[in-house]
Amino acid sequence: MNKNYEITRTITPGEYMKMREAVGWGLFPLEEAQAGLENSYIWCIRDNGTPIGIGRVIWDHGYVMYIADIIVIPEYQGQGLGRVLMENVMDFIHAQLKPGYRFMVSLCSAKDKQDFYKKFGFVERPNEDVGPGMHQWFTGEEVL
Ligand SMILES: CC(C)(COP(=O)(O)OP(=O)(O)OC[C@H]1O[C@@H](n2cnc3c(N)ncnc32)[C@H](O)[C@@H]1OP(=O)(O)O)[C@@H](O)C(=O)NCCC(=O)NCCS
Repeated sequence: MNKNYEITRTITPGEYMKMREAVGWGLFPLEEAQAGLENSYIWCIRDNGTPIGIGRVIWDHGYVMYIADIIVIPEYQGQGLGRVLMENVMDFIHAQLKPGYRFMVSLCSAKDKQDFYKKFGFVERPNEDVGPGMHQWFTGEEVL
């Protein structure tokens, strides 16, 4: 990594929202962002202090882990930073394993990003053994 870059284990809700905005992802209230960040393991790559990459893991401390929000802002893509984030995430996961433990680590690939995740051992669903992953968004009604 460039010598001006560092990895921190925190990001503010405002910084996190800017990262999402930079890649065209939906926004939500800062309070909701903060709650999510407080319950995540976070890696934030910073250039002279400014966030340029983020990744996070949500873990129930049993067998279920979920990788979310792997983002490198567009000006910094293609320099190996996505790989740095994923390698930190994968090292973290391996470090949590105890003898005999098994983790199922899931993620939802953004469109056309599945080959990026395959580099780190993830397999696409559906396949001959498992059905597709599924998801649904819920939105709270605005109180006027
Ligand atoms: C996906 C993303 C994180 C990759 O970050 P990046 O810093 O550009 O990736 P890197 O430069 O570290 O690339 C790592 C490797 O993945 C490959 N790669 C990167 N993007 C890829 C893609 N879309 N499809 C296939 N391979 C890809 C690179 O060629 C590189 O391969 P190598 O290490 O074997 O040479 C970045 O494009 C991004 O933030 N996109 C917008 C947000 C997004 O969609 N995130 C994924 C959410 S599920």
